[in-house]
Amino acid sequence: MKNKFQQNNANEGSSHSSVARKIKRTSAFLSVLFISSLLFICFISPKINAGSLFENQNVNNKNDSLKHYRSFKPGEEWYDTDGKIINAHGGGMLYYNKTYYWFGETRGRSASQGVSVYSSKDLYNWKNEGLALAHDADSSSDITTGSIIERPKVIYNKNTNQFVMWFHLELKGKGYSAARAGVAVSNTPTGPYKFLKSFRPNGNMSRDMTLYVDDKGTAYQIYSSRENYDMRIVELTPDYLSPTTKDSLISSDHREAPAIFQHDKKYFLVTSACTGWAPNAANLYVSKSLFGNWQDTRNPMLGKDANMTFYAQSAYIFPVAGKKDAFIFMADKWNPKNLTDSRYIWLPVEFKNGEPNIEWKDEWDLNYFGKQ
Ligand code: DGJ
Repeated sequence: MKNKFQQNNANEGSSHSSVARKIKRTSAFLSVLFISSLLFICFISPKINAGSLFENQNVNNKNDSLKHYRSFKPGEEWYDTDGKIINAHGGGMLYYNKTYYWFGETRGRSASQGVSVYSSKDLYNWKNEGLALAHDADSSSDITTGSIIERPKVIYNKNTNQFVMWFHLELKGKGYSAARAGVAVSNTPTGPYKFLKSFRPNGNMSRDMTLYVDDKGTAYQIYSSRENYDMRIVELTPDYLSPTTKDSLISSDHREAPAIFQHDKKYFLVTSACTGWAPNAANLYVSKSLFGNWQDTRNPMLGKDANMTFYAQSAYIFPVAGKKDAFIFMADKWNPKNLTDSRYIWLPVEFKNGEPNIEWKDEWDLNYFGKQ
């Protein structure tokens, strides 16, 4: 039989071991809690956050450059669906089979690397479809590596079922003195396009240029000529492959970067001044007919840095499919130190009493159209 002392000791012993058991259980519980919190923070919580953000804004899916866009942010870096920066400068837009195709200059830091093409159904998210037109390794080709391809534009010819690309071409080693137009064709929108020829339309110098197809399917090239002092328009042959002799002067104001559109029976032509890669003020020519009389009216830009075209230069203006009176102005914010990183300024064209304006916006989306 245990004495009182032994009994107390025994009781104390059992109360010690029960405290020890409680401490063990608590610390096990805390460890499990700690590990599960860690697991939650590392793996589950980011997914929940991404999921709830997804509905509202541009979202990073995997890394900083893999985004799903739901708006335009003019002048910001714009990544394709592979997470690579979009490289399509001085571009143009083709809408075919419910898909938009964005063609533009592929640029290295300064080098011309051909014509890129991206596709999109929503105008925000762009898939890189590769090089539509590559420079040719053959040194006898007009588009041999080292030549300069700028401001490519593509139109579709319903009669020949061909996609026709025109661009400004400068021959290798000749600076900007060749001043030629180049033509290439493909049976598919994304190419690869086959280079056909280069020339000066009707003997005229041809630098910055765009293409336009009217309601009847007749196509035109609008081009800077005579050392950029003249802006000209020439009607193309029915196959869109050559200029006709219907070639006339729009203005002699020393302008370049033509971007044309038609609205309410009037033609509007935005151009820039000639200051190399540096920004300047845009102007707007207006005419009831493509062959004139073109009136130089005003600078159509409004808002912050409007007198510098928002530090960009016009490239193209295109209608948004399925939306009335909806046009998007595309411009390039050139970075001559690294042309790859030249940014894109896309803004909606707004109409006031039938007159177009292009006003700066930090961010906007296609719902803008219809709210005007
Ligand atoms: C201005 C033109 O608009 C651009 O396309 C490019 O040719 C630069 N000049 C080159 O300085």
